[in-house]
Amino acid sequence: MSKENSKRDILVTNALPYANGPLHIGHLLEHIQSDIWVRYQRLIGNNCTYICGEDAHGTAIMLKAEENKLSPEELIEQVKISHMEDFLAFNISHDNYHTTHSEENRFFSEIIFTRLKEKGFIEEREIEQLFDTERQIFLSDRYVKGTCPSCGAEDQYGDNCEICSSTYSATDLIDPISVITETKPEIKKSSHLFFKLSDLKSEIKDWLDNALVPRQALNKLSEWIDGDLKDWNISRDEPYFGFKIPGYPGKYFYVWLDAPIGYLASHKNYLDKLHKAEDFDLYWGIDSKAELYHFIGKDIMYFHALFFPAMLLKSDFRQPSGVFIHGFLTVDGQKMSKSRGTFILASTYREILDPVYLRYYFAAKLGTGVDDIDLNLEDFCQRANSDLVGKFINIGSRTAKFINENFKNKLSKTVHNEALINEFIDRSSVISEAYENREFNKAIREIMFLADKANRYIDKMEPWVLFKDKKNKELVQSVCTTSLNLFRLMAIMLSPVIPTLSEKIYLFLNIKFPQWNDMNKILLNHEIGVYKPLLTRIEMDKIEKIREKSKEL
Ligand code: MSP
Ligand code: ZN
Repeated sequence: MSKENSKRDILVTNALPYANGPLHIGHLLEHIQSDIWVRYQRLIGNNCTYICGEDAHGTAIMLKAEENKLSPEELIEQVKISHMEDFLAFNISHDNYHTTHSEENRFFSEIIFTRLKEKGFIEEREIEQLFDTERQIFLSDRYVKGTCPSCGAEDQYGDNCEICSSTYSATDLIDPISVITETKPEIKKSSHLFFKLSDLKSEIKDWLDNALVPRQALNKLSEWIDGDLKDWNISRDEPYFGFKIPGYPGKYFYVWLDAPIGYLASHKNYLDKLHKAEDFDLYWGIDSKAELYHFIGKDIMYFHALFFPAMLLKSDFRQPSGVFIHGFLTVDGQKMSKSRGTFILASTYREILDPVYLRYYFAAKLGTGVDDIDLNLEDFCQRANSDLVGKFINIGSRTAKFINENFKNKLSKTVHNEALINEFIDRSSVISEAYENREFNKAIREIMFLADKANRYIDKMEPWVLFKDKKNKELVQSVCTTSLNLFRLMAIMLSPVIPTLSEKIYLFLNIKFPQWNDMNKILLNHEIGVYKPLLTRIEMDKIEKIREKSKEL
């Protein structure tokens, strides 16, 4: 934990991806969003820990492993490696990447369950479920299909109807069929453990009143709480891949019980590696002063803004300071689709294009809202080219060569336009605030406004014209020094979004990795490196390649 009072201690998590398949660019939207925020926090000097890991349990993973003739352990290990490779390539700076199939997670799942039980929040009830007699397995809602009892639509899942939106129990489906074996399931009784969420309405509301949760999501959450908030079945029958529930033979914790507990497990695993186990309570203890934020998609807010805070409260852990909920990524205006070639895997994208463009584009689109975000591939290409290459990089490439070729790489002792530099520095507080509030689209707008200014300044000064007259030699040097200072400021401002590109610029400018506060100083009489092209334009045929490769999936 940091000692200085002004430094905030922040713990950030991403939703733990399921360990049964590769990452796609929808997943990346979330990780890029949180990574930008985390990098910004680190840049201003806060103590920000960023953790994630695999969500490794559940029926889907068990069946997928079987299908691939692997043990679940083998499958989740393979998938974990592929996920970590993708995150690395997209510069996602997780401090720790763990898994829910770990001893730390078993430990915390058991503790939380035991405490909830001791406090009377766990109740055993007998329920009826559909049972696949051929495969000898109880069928969760996703593994049974049938005719909607409300409107008669065929081929609907066991929880709700996509046609008429009514919700029901799987046992109410007409002509149910098991998705696994395509046989007709039977109704069978089994006893299960329920977390008594319905007793905790007012506590959940109290937490919501004080937590940072997007306003748009609050309406939906209040509807759930004020409506029929049901107790939550946290157990599953054998066969299952997960943790056995102590004291209940043949029963396992439902994957969604131990998944968010995976945040505690990953953090514990991280602190143990750092030999800082004693810090755990400072983050997770009931009186913790540290901030805890979860970045998640709108599809899983029920778990993060209702179940998890309630579980933490009644098991004597601190509750989250905020849940930052994003919308879904669409591509070319529609849900990602394999046949249209828009179901783009992280690995497909990175084989063909530099991740820096995607990070930039997502930043330019992301705000605090829960609305879906569209990646229009043509707009993406055009925007990345015109903003990053045409506006930003151009500032360096137009002016560096004069310093390199005529001043032995040396910047001038004074700048030509200090007022302009100061204007940029002043503007950094607005940009800082936008980053803090996760209004990345606003930060990008502001920075591009500055880029336009810098380019107009260069256009007006025309160093390439000035240069023709020997008596202007010093002026050319101080104009280019002004421009390269503006370039440096923008590289720092953009560094949470495009860290690799900013690093290349620091290397070229021959400066150490700056903090946000370092913007206050001006680079003078300083030897820079030789400018080499930093980023090229995206060609449209690369986009076509991505589409084609995505169709092959
Ligand atoms: N395993 C659970 C999360 C457990 S957290 C304790 C899960 N996994 S997931 O792989 O399906 O999704 C991981 C995250 O990616 C979720 O926050 C989800 O909303 C997000 N996204 C998955 N597809 C997405 C898009 N197409 N667009 C944006 N985010 C998407 O849910
Ligand atoms: Zn229906």
